[in-house]
Amino acid sequence: MKTVVITGVGKGFGRELFLGLSRNYKLIGITRNEDDCESLRKEIEPESTHHEIMCLDITDLGAIESKLLPVLEENKGSVYGLINNAGVRCRKGMLSLSLDEIKNVCEVNLFAPINLAKHMLPYFVSNNSGRIVNISSILSQSSLPELSAYAVSKAGLDGFTRSVTAEFASAGITCNSILPGFCKTSYYPNFLKNSELYEMTLDKTPAGRWGEASELIGVCELLLGQNGAYINGASIPVDGGWLS
Ligand SMILES: NC(=O)c1ccc[n+]([C@@H]2O[C@H](COP(=O)([O-])OP(=O)(O)OC[C@H]3O[C@@H](n4cnc5c(N)ncnc54)[C@H](OP(=O)(O)O)[C@@H]3O)[C@@H](O)[C@H]2O)c1
Repeated sequence: MKTVVITGVGKGFGRELFLGLSRNYKLIGITRNEDDCESLRKEIEPESTHHEIMCLDITDLGAIESKLLPVLEENKGSVYGLINNAGVRCRKGMLSLSLDEIKNVCEVNLFAPINLAKHMLPYFVSNNSGRIVNISSILSQSSLPELSAYAVSKAGLDGFTRSVTAEFASAGITCNSILPGFCKTSYYPNFLKNSELYEMTLDKTPAGRWGEASELIGVCELLLGQNGAYINGASIPVDGGWLS
């Protein structure tokens, strides 16, 4: 079985992706909350024992080296995929946003994914195949007030996606970004409390609804599978038409 690393598997998209891809891949899930790790282990165990769930913060470069790299080395012949999903938001106007806050968002959403890709690309090269899927956002290509740090991090991630394609497509490696619109992950219940903001998101979404947390599974299956082998360097919206 091919080995795929998924980050941010504790909640939201990451958890759904972990559960949705667990039949076809050997998964290494990473998330930082111990309770989330434990509940995911319990949920997955009856069906499978070959997956691994690691409790670590992806911005902790030392923990990535000491915990993840040995497991990659053990599975080196089958290391195949990376889904950079873990991400954080920071809702703050530009003038009150500090440089440290922008850096913190970029540490999680941009630098940690680049670090993980740099660790995994050598395995992909020696296995003559590999897939990177970066979970970006519609805000990499559009704008909303008070989300500048987030938008900068996701636009950077899309730039990284294209750069990996330029350097590694000839080695049988693909790298794509998925750009979700507004979807029902862990920030949804809080968002609902601000009815004006919520109505705005519905008005701007041609589908007239928020997406489900499970609605990235299909596109990830495509990008990881043989049918997605010629999709490379793309930024693919999964947004109910927001960017149209
Ligand atoms: N939901 C949407 O509408 C939407 C739209 C566009 C893009 N996205 C993107 O989709 C991705 C997933 O978002 P989501 O909405 O599913 O978020 P979520 O429900 O908050 O889940 C994110 C998961 O990632 C984990 N995580 C965050 N930072 C981490 C770190 N430094 N190290 C390890 N794990 C970390 C979180 O752990 P904790 O709970 O412990 O923080 C949580 O388990 C993000 O990249 C986000 O930007 C989401």
